[in-house]
This record gives sequence, structure tokens and C-alpha cells, in this order.
Amino acid sequence: MKILVTGGLGYIGSHVVLSLVNNGYKVIIIDNLSNCGVSVLSKLEKLINSKLIFEKLDLSIKNQVKLFFEKYSNINGIIHFAALKSVGESVINPLKYFDNNLNSMLNIIEYMPKETPFVFSSSCTVYGTVNKQPITESTPHGIAESPYGKTKQLCEKIMEKEFHGINNFKALSLRYFNPVGAHSSGLIGENPKNIPENLIPYLTQVVIGKRDVLTIYGDDYDTKDGTCIRDYIHIMDLAEAHIKSLEYLFRIKDKNYIDYLNIGTGIGVSVLELIQTFEKATGMKVNYIIGKRRPGDIEKAYAETKKAKKIIGWESKYSLSSALNSAWNWEKKSLD
Ligand code: NAD
Ligand code: UD1
Repeated sequence: MKILVTGGLGYIGSHVVLSLVNNGYKVIIIDNLSNCGVSVLSKLEKLINSKLIFEKLDLSIKNQVKLFFEKYSNINGIIHFAALKSVGESVINPLKYFDNNLNSMLNIIEYMPKETPFVFSSSCTVYGTVNKQPITESTPHGIAESPYGKTKQLCEKIMEKEFHGINNFKALSLRYFNPVGAHSSGLIGENPKNIPENLIPYLTQVVIGKRDVLTIYGDDYDTKDGTCIRDYIHIMDLAEAHIKSLEYLFRIKDKNYIDYLNIGTGIGVSVLELIQTFEKATGMKVNYIIGKRRPGDIEKAYAETKKAKKIIGWESKYSLSSALNSAWNWEKKSLD
């Protein structure tokens, strides 16, 4: 079975490539290297002890996608990660996000072999601000908090259109909560090109001494300790959810199918609790201060996870301590 992984050299994609190979799949990677280094390819090859097929191309350019699918006509499944994902940058330059994220999706759907099972990287950001927790898949979508979030909502709409269109289309859209951590080898992990916006890479960079202090964005929320609550999911759990999703799509007889799954742990953790868990798990101290709220942040978001268990037979296994330990291991190895 040959699986196309778009954005396969990025943070989540690289971990899924590894899991796919370990589960016996052949993998073809597409990436334009806009948010990763080509060195990830050699690290993956080292981990699997064999060569990978890699095509450097930009999915938002129609002709490049057309030529790719002419060259590789025998693809059995697609996992589509490739997208720009910086919330802050999307607010400053929304058109760049609509162009890249929507056109990449449209071009793949236009040129991929029809009926190829398709797994899409969505996000809990599609729900917007939600008052009732945990968030279920049937929670109506609010207003997206950013152009990035809007592109995820629109990509789901494009898939729905295709599902109701003239072609057969089988897809699962996975709405990730907060992916964290790294592969146990410490060879691959989250390696943002710029100053990290997300909590974990910022925190580990402070602890290792690359940055001075972590600012907690607000301690006056209506939560147990005043800091925001999120659902942090280990990257290896997330990788497994993709394998289970593909296998489910291979198994089902329906030629036309679409569904949406929350991928999280179901456990809400505050920023202060996360820092305490990190310190306990690693024995390292986190230098932090309390700052102002970050505009656009929501107070609480954690997943109702029953649907993923029921449909694809997946649930998270790793603890938060283990996820944070793996993130720290990865940060330490980055100094090697
Ligand atoms: P990432 O930036 O590490 O990986 C995305 C990869 O796609 C990068 O390697 C980038 O170079 C590539 N890419 C971007 N545009 C491309 C294009 N036009 N053509 C070819 N390659 C292109 O991000 P990630 O954290 O691995 O996220 C993967 C997916 O999961 C994204 O769709 C993201 O929106 C989604 N997601 C991520 C998170 C998170 O917290 N990391 C949360 C929810 C959803
Ligand atoms: C971010 C994105 C969201 C995306 C999600 C998963 C924003 C506004 N939203 O959400 O669209 O789906 O990642 O990738 O960026 N925090 C601090 N100090 C920091 C960094 C973060 O206190 O330096 C806090 C935040 O206030 C938040 C928590 O840590 O409560 C997690 O933040 P982050 O990692 O940025 O993820 P989200 O805000 O959940």
C-alpha cells in the first residue's frame, strides 16, 4: 500500500511517516520545505534504515500537482498535512493563508485518483469559542478566531462539497486539540523556524536557555487556577490516530463517506498544571512570569473523545508527563 503524505517533513507529518513505515506502508512525501528543513528526511531515513520517496513541490501550484499525480498514479491513500499554521501570521497576511491552504486542498482533490481514501488535518480551532466543555463533534462552528481557523473550516466545506458531488469521496477530518511531544529517539520533533507561538516549544526553549522567561498569558480566567485550559495530546498518539483512520477508510464498503473526529485526550489541563507536570517529570525548573491575556485566546478547550473510539477504535494512551518528557528530550538533543 502506497500512502501519499503531504507536509510529510513537518512536525506531525514526520511522526506519521515513521508510524506508517513501522506499520508496513510505503510512503511518498510531498513538502515544499516552507516550514521545515530537508534534514528531517535524512533523520527519518536513519530511523527507518531505508530510503524514502520525496518530491519537493508546492501543492498550491496546480501544474505541479497535476504532474505529480501523472507520475504517481498508484496511490492507495492520502494524508494531507501540508498547510501554513501560524495563527499570528494569518492575521497579518490572510491572503497568503487562503491561497496556500485552500488551493493545496483543491488541487489535490482535483488531480488525485478518484476514490482514494483521504485523511485531513483539521483542528479544534474550527469550533471557535465554545462555552460547553468537553467539545463534541456536533458542536456548531462559531466564528473562526483567525484566518488560519477559517481555512480549516473552509477545507472541511470543500470536502463536504466533494462528498456531495459527482465523484465518490471517502474522507475523515481529524480535529486535533493540542499536539505536543516528540518521537522517543529525540531525532524528530517540533522545530519552529521562528520564535515559537505555542506553549511547549517556548517552554522547553526557556528551560534550555535559548529564551529568558515564559510568559503565562493571563491568570484571571474563570478556571481552577485562573490560567487557560487545553487538551494536550502526545504526538505518537496522534500518529496512531492517522493509521487507524486510514485503516478504517480501507475497511468500509461505502464509496462515499465523510466524518469528523476529535483527536484529544479528553483531559483539560491548565497552563500552571502543565508547568508543574513538566517540572516533576523532568526535574527542571521553568522560569515564568504572569503576563496579560493573549488576544484571541479561549478560556477552555478540551475534547469529548468517544466518537473516535467508537468509529476508528482509537484512544490516547500516553500521559502528559511522558509527552512533556519527550519534548524535553527533543529540545536537549537539538543542542547535539
Ligand atoms: P508544520 O508546519 O510542521 O508542517 C506542515 C508542512 O507542510 C511543513 O513542512 C511545510 O513545509 C509544508 N507545506 C506547507 N505548505 C505547503 C505547500 N503549499 N506545498 C507543500 N508543502 C507545504 O505543521 P504541523 O504542526 O506538522 O501541522 C500539520 C497539519 O496539522 C497542518 O495542516 C496544521 O494546520 C494541522 N494542525 C496542527 C496543529 C499543531 O498544533 N501543530 C494543530 C491542529 C492542526
Ligand atoms: C493554538 C492556536 C490554535 C491551534 C492550536 C493547536 C492560537 C491563538 N491558537 O491554540 O488555532 O489550533 O494552537 O495547535 O495561537 N500560552 C502561554 N504562554 C505562551 C504560549 C502559550 O501562557 O508563551 C498559553 C496559551 O494562553 C494557551 C496555552 O498556553 O492557554 C496553549 O497555547 P498554544 O500552544 O499557543 O495553543 P492554543 O492557544 O491552544
